[in-house]
Amino acid sequence: MIDDARPTGAPAAGPDARPPLETPASLEALRETIAAELLAARARTAALTDCVEDRDLTAQHSPLMSPLVWDLAHIGNQEELWLLRNVGHRDPMHPEIDPLYDAFEHPRAERPSLPLLPPNEARAYAHEVRGRVLDLLGESPLEGAPLLDAGFAFGMIAQHEQQHDETMLITHQLRVGEPALAAPPPPPAPADAAALPADVLVPAGPFTMGTDTEPWALDNERPAHRVELPAFRLDTTPVTNGAYLRFIADGGYDEPRWWTPEGWEHRRTARLSAPLFWRHEDGQWLRRRFGVLEPVPLDEPVLHVSWYEADAYARWAGRRLPTEAEWEKAARYDPATDRSRRFPWGDAPPAPGNANLGQRHLRPAPAGSYPDGESPHGVRQLMGDVWEWTASDFRPYPGFRAWPYKEYSEVFFGPEYKVLRGGCFAVAPVACRGTFRNWDYPIRRQIFAGFRTAADAETD
Ligand SMILES: [Fe+2]
Repeated sequence: MIDDARPTGAPAAGPDARPPLETPASLEALRETIAAELLAARARTAALTDCVEDRDLTAQHSPLMSPLVWDLAHIGNQEELWLLRNVGHRDPMHPEIDPLYDAFEHPRAERPSLPLLPPNEARAYAHEVRGRVLDLLGESPLEGAPLLDAGFAFGMIAQHEQQHDETMLITHQLRVGEPALAAPPPPPAPADAAALPADVLVPAGPFTMGTDTEPWALDNERPAHRVELPAFRLDTTPVTNGAYLRFIADGGYDEPRWWTPEGWEHRRTARLSAPLFWRHEDGQWLRRRFGVLEPVPLDEPVLHVSWYEADAYARWAGRRLPTEAEWEKAARYDPATDRSRRFPWGDAPPAPGNANLGQRHLRPAPAGSYPDGESPHGVRQLMGDVWEWTASDFRPYPGFRAWPYKEYSEVFFGPEYKVLRGGCFAVAPVACRGTFRNWDYPIRRQIFAGFRTAADAETD
């Protein structure tokens, strides 16, 4: 994920391939929700692409990323493919451009050399597609076919655009030059962070992982299944920059014993010595954030570390990364009702008071923020702020079925990808829930990822 894993393709499975969905309150309410999500995504796309000159849109700011103008037309192309063609059975608008925007056909490094639509044409194409999609939405029954039930394909496309907005925000972070993004107010500081326990105990027992009922959940989040876990301890908050600096100061990057063999080899060849975007000048640690150089804030969750670095830190601290199942149990399981909830705070959708999501702020909130978003076990900031690396490889759940196409998740299953959970400040609420799974290579650092640590609970 956080990639271009949305290729051209036909649905992979038939109508019986998906579990039953929750019934929406009314079709009209569902239409309004979908329209609002599509509009919110487009407003964000516009904000991320209108704030720079055309030459910034067509330039490649890093070989790790596409030119922004590629994302822009790809968003429109996938919307046309899934909604106008697969749902609406319309003819292709510009079949000749389809291969240019197929993420599987052209790796990111290759994309600047393609005959891409220029910015004005890319915008006009995405706009034209959107107009036709809103017409289609107005006349769609939103039921009676797997892609239509509960507006699944519309929800998938709203999530897809927001995921590319996050990708484009990463491109902004990698871009060198004057700041282009308006600085929003900082997130709220916690009142009681100093009084929080370092970690919490999650007692042994089973819980339900994954979902059968989230209407817009993606295939890899399904199906719901019971998982039995021993007791474990989990950090109350993500690991902070201040804590990470102690790892650096203690020689953490110079000690092979804290690293896995692969991690140490990577640390050595890539010459890692601190999180990405950090530099040490005149005895002070600074970091560049969206074109602004500032002192590293000690109370913020650490960001832009690879899985290898997170894993080494945890070993240095005498702990380990949590497994994906541990993370989800801590985030969703409510012992009072023996039920897994949608979010740490309950079943209500995210609100500004309980999680730092949706690019409202251009940074994570200080550790310990959002007491109203706390989980039943007292864990904070599980949603939003920073993606959290887990110990787990990206694997299918028991009973997994690819939907709506194999390239969404199935082709990525295996040991080469590590799972990240919880979303970050750049993730939209529509693309975030307690079951959501992200995955990436363990060397990745440009993504908005941090971590928290866990430990086996001591038993008598
Ligand atoms: Fe995509």
